[in-house]
Amino acid sequence: MSAEYLVNGSVAVITLNNPPVNGLGLETRTAAVAGIRRALADDAVKAIVITGAGKAFSGGADIKEFNSPKALTEPTLHTLIQVAESSTKPVVAAIHTVCMGGGLELALGCNYRVAMPGAQIALPEVKLGLLPGAGGTQRLPRVVGLEMALNMIVSGTPVPSEKFAGTALFDEVFASDAKLIDSAVAFANKVADVRPLPRVRDRKVNYPNHEAFLQFSRNTVKAMSGAFPAPMECVETVAASVTKKFEDGIKFERERFLHLIQTPESKSLRHAFFAERLASKIPDVPADTPTRDIKQAAIIGAGTMGGGIAMNFVNAGIPVILLETKQEALDKGIATIRKNYENTMKKGKLTQEKFEQRVGLISGTLNYADIAQADIVVEAVFEDMGVKESVFKQLDSVMKPGAILASNTSTLDVNKIAGFTSRPQDVVGTHFFSPANVMKLLEIVRGAKTGKDVLATTLALSKKLRKTGVVSGVCDGFIGNRMIEQYSRQAGFLLEEGCLPEQVDKAVEKFGFAMGPFRMGDLAGNDIGWYIRKRRYVESPEITYSKTADLLCEMGRYGQKTGAGWYDYKAGDRKAYASQDVNDMIVKHSADIGVERRKISDEEIVERLVYSLVNEGARILEEGIAMRASDIDMVYLTGYGFPVFRGGPMFYADTVGLANVLMAMEKYAKGRHGNAWAPAPLMVRLAAEGKGFNS
Ligand code: NAI
Repeated sequence: MSAEYLVNGSVAVITLNNPPVNGLGLETRTAAVAGIRRALADDAVKAIVITGAGKAFSGGADIKEFNSPKALTEPTLHTLIQVAESSTKPVVAAIHTVCMGGGLELALGCNYRVAMPGAQIALPEVKLGLLPGAGGTQRLPRVVGLEMALNMIVSGTPVPSEKFAGTALFDEVFASDAKLIDSAVAFANKVADVRPLPRVRDRKVNYPNHEAFLQFSRNTVKAMSGAFPAPMECVETVAASVTKKFEDGIKFERERFLHLIQTPESKSLRHAFFAERLASKIPDVPADTPTRDIKQAAIIGAGTMGGGIAMNFVNAGIPVILLETKQEALDKGIATIRKNYENTMKKGKLTQEKFEQRVGLISGTLNYADIAQADIVVEAVFEDMGVKESVFKQLDSVMKPGAILASNTSTLDVNKIAGFTSRPQDVVGTHFFSPANVMKLLEIVRGAKTGKDVLATTLALSKKLRKTGVVSGVCDGFIGNRMIEQYSRQAGFLLEEGCLPEQVDKAVEKFGFAMGPFRMGDLAGNDIGWYIRKRRYVESPEITYSKTADLLCEMGRYGQKTGAGWYDYKAGDRKAYASQDVNDMIVKHSADIGVERRKISDEEIVERLVYSLVNEGARILEEGIAMRASDIDMVYLTGYGFPVFRGGPMFYADTVGLANVLMAMEKYAKGRHGNAWAPAPLMVRLAAEGKGFNS
């Protein structure tokens, strides 16, 4: 049973009970409808209270029913709301903690709403590329007014219950020490005989000169919503609450909802929503796997990454000791962190008190003995196996038993690193992305011997650090960088064949990437790739690369940090200006290697870059480096600026159709460096079966 029924005097109390947030799934809806009907049939009952058990009134639709026919099985949410709204006895929604989406729509269908202060009220459907489809767009403006309703529905942002004073949303907000059910039952008794029953649908939205306001809203929202159609659809349906009769408005809302649910943007957002939840599940590491306590962290290396990683821990309230080889490097590292926090404070995003607190959680040392009691140590020293070896041997000798030994390596073999210790079960890769205090992604690299509890602890830690943790197996570059290498290779070949950096970046940015490959290279530092390629030239001479990136580095153009990269930069300005020197170098290089430059379409640029990601992603999936295609999508959405409205590379390939992707790849295989397009067997097999990566 997912809603409980009891009678308190002459008031029936129906308690939604579907943990964790009383999602309005089929069983809950069925039980709630049955509860209302039972109350109507009982002459001793004069009024009905609907509330929620545990930590919510209701968080809305049950996400487990998304994309399943259950959501449309009777009683639907519409039916439940209609049953509540047409009740002949007053129905009171008793709201606390969380009242969102379908939960709020149900409350709006009740005759009265009472609430505890601090309850979070929202219609967040827009965040999944949708609009509230069970009357929210028509009923909310009727109680909170056009302007507030539009803001809430377009932004999806929660508003605490006490902010609705002066609106008709709540008939009463109780004192913070009140007992909700007792107060709600007392309220129900008070209104039990009041007739006619007030209904939100009978109210009018009064807004003088609403057309001017709506036009202003259309302009503003259009400018902000980018590729997403949902925010504008929200505006139009809310507009219907003023311009149309209630029944017509509801019909219009339904029509626009059914349209949005089919859009690729909403499908992508829903995919990303599920992908994020799925990423934290590891089939052979059950949810109840014991985790280790993380109360103290240590970081080895206070450079670019070490500093950012330290900030993550400190922001989560975990004290950090930074260890360096020289006092000067330590001082510089800690000063940079301090400066970052000072800048945040200057922007008004951190109070002086919080600043002191955070800075107070950081200390430094040159001595391993000082970090011995840390629960986790994250190594972020130079990307060199010899240096990692010496660090891990020292960690092995000093760290207390049970400490987690993590490496931030971006390419090196975590199994080999674990082999430098006598406790490989405690070793794990934690690959943060730069800037580590900003980027959401944390690739968690599972070594052959990494303990299940260590993995479970690291995943739990990623949540605490407000990161999206995605588990990767061990391979060169893990999930993200292994794929980006193929993408960068194609970007290089495009330069040789006829493109200039600006054209490539623009095409990819138009597709929706936050940044094209060359602007990204300039930001991250072109020397990093150069260093990796030099290693590859020796280790894997069969892999071909365009030499343009090496020539660029030979010109000393490492990117923004040297004031010049693929583009020119002006001091104190991150804007990229096309560089004549670089463009001349590229054109000359084509001539030197005897390639006749040709005009290349934006479509070809995007296909070659994105499909090279997809093909490598398929190999990664097939080898079991990634557990699922959606994990690869999460890596790209949270770490590489892949457009969210396209759902990630693997999801995007599914929407294009794997057979179509393969057809394009066959075409490119006939061009230069055709061997880069050997299709991943998994993709060939799935395409032949008419399947996608995610289905
Ligand atoms: P960095 O050069 O900025 O910092 C390295 C720091 O480690 C320096 O401050 C150095 O003094 C210190 N160090 C070197 N040897 C040490 C030792 N034996 N004991 C203690 N401290 C030592 O390098 P960065 O960029 O912070 O990279 C660190 C690690 O993070 C590397 O493994 C790198 O591959 C990885 N990484 C780097 C990313 C980036 O974008 N920079 C992104 C993700 C991972």
